[in-house]
Amino acid sequence: MPSRLFPLGGPVSEKDIVDREDFLLSLGIRLIEGQSIMLAGPRRIGKTSLALEVLRRLKTKDSYVAFIDLFRYNTKKQLSLAIIDACLENRSGISKTTAALKDGLKRIASGARLTAKIQDLEFEVGLPGEGRDDDELFNYALRLPEILAKKDKKQIVVVFDEFQEVIRIAGEDTLKVMRSYFQRQEGVSYLFLGSKEGMMNTIFGDKRQAFYRFATILPIPPIPTDAWKEYLSSKYLEKRIAVNERTILEILDLSGGHPQDTMLLCSEIYYALIEAGEATLTLDFVRTGYTRALLTLSPVFDELLDELGKVANVRHVLIGIAKGLRIYSGLSGNPNEIKRAVDTLVSRAVIEKSSRGSYNFVEPMLKHYLIEKIDVY
Ligand SMILES: Nc1ncnc2c1ncn2[C@@H]1O[C@H](COP(=O)(O)OP(=O)(O)OP(=O)(O)O)[C@@H](O)[C@H]1O
Ligand SMILES: [Mg+2]
Repeated sequence: MPSRLFPLGGPVSEKDIVDREDFLLSLGIRLIEGQSIMLAGPRRIGKTSLALEVLRRLKTKDSYVAFIDLFRYNTKKQLSLAIIDACLENRSGISKTTAALKDGLKRIASGARLTAKIQDLEFEVGLPGEGRDDDELFNYALRLPEILAKKDKKQIVVVFDEFQEVIRIAGEDTLKVMRSYFQRQEGVSYLFLGSKEGMMNTIFGDKRQAFYRFATILPIPPIPTDAWKEYLSSKYLEKRIAVNERTILEILDLSGGHPQDTMLLCSEIYYALIEAGEATLTLDFVRTGYTRALLTLSPVFDELLDELGKVANVRHVLIGIAKGLRIYSGLSGNPNEIKRAVDTLVSRAVIEKSSRGSYNFVEPMLKHYLIEKIDVY
C-alpha cells in the first residue's frame, strides 16, 4: 500500500519531520553527554516523533537506547517488564526478550543463544520473572539501565513517553523510588515526555516533588512558516500539483502551523483535488479541505468541550478568548473564578500565553470551530 502523502495520527519518520533539525541536534548532544531532559507539550505537536528520531540517531552512533510508552501499561509488573525488555533489546536484538525466555525458547538453539547474550545480567541480579514480587521486579528494572551501561561501557538513553502516567500505573510514591535510583546512576540519561503539561510541570518543577530539578526542561519550538512552506510545496509538487505561495500561506494561517492540524488540512485538500481531477491548488480547494478537516476534528473538539464544560466558567472564558475579548476587562464574572478557568485551560494546553501577555489557542482550528458553534453553546 502506498504510504499517505501527509502522515497523520502517530509519530512521523525523519523525512516528514518538518524543521526540527537544530532541536534534534541539541537534544542528541545533551543526552549523550549525560543530561536528562523533560519535554512537555500539547497533544499532537510531535513529542514522540522527536524522541524516536533522537533515539534512531543515537543508535547509529553506537549508544544504547530504550523507549517505554507508559500509555500502554496498567500495572507495575507490566511497566517493569517493559523497561527490562526495552533495555535488553540492546543486547538481544528482539523486542520481547522476557517473553521469549519464558516461552521456553531456552531449550532450542536460538533460545540458548539468547540466554547467552544476557547471562551476565541474569547472574548478577537473577532472571526477572516468576517468583519475584512486583516491587523487586520494579527495582531491578530501575537498576538495569545502569548495569547495562557499566557492563558494556556505553551511554544508554532511556525515554519515558507519557511519563505522567506512572502515577496512574503505580501510585505517586513510585516517583520517589524512581528518583532515588536515577539520581545516582552513571552512563544513563533520561528523556521524559508528557502530554499532560500541568502534571509534568508539577512533577519536574515543584519543590515538593521527587523529580524537582532532576531534568532540564526544554520548550519544544514552533515550526517556522518558511520550513512549512518548503515542505508543503515539495509534497504537492511530488504529486505534480501546482501550488503558489499565497495558497500555502492561507493553509498555514488556517491551521496556525499546528503540526497535526496542518497535516490533516493538507491531506483533506489533497483528496479534494484528486476527487475533482484537478492539479492546481487554488483557494477554493483550501476552503473545501478546511471544511472537511473541521468535520473530521469535530468529534475530538466536541469531546474536549464537553469535558471542559464540567469546570465552572471554562467555556465562558474560552468563548471570550475566541471572540478576542480581553480576559479580565472584557469578560463578565468573578476575577478569581476567571483566573481559575484560565489556569485550567493553560494546564490542559488548550490555550497558551503569548509573548504579549494575551492568550492564544494552541489549535487555531478549535477557535474557528468554537466561533462557528457559539450559538449552540
Ligand atoms: N515536526 C513535525 N513535522 C510535521 N508534522 C508533525 C511534526 N511533528 C508532529 N507532526 C504531526 O503530528 C502528528 C503527531 O505526532 P507525534 O505522535 O509525534 O506527536 P505527540 O506530541 O507525541 O502526540 P501525542 O500527544 O498524541 O502523543 C504526526 O502524525 C504528524 O501529523
Ligand atoms: Mg506522543
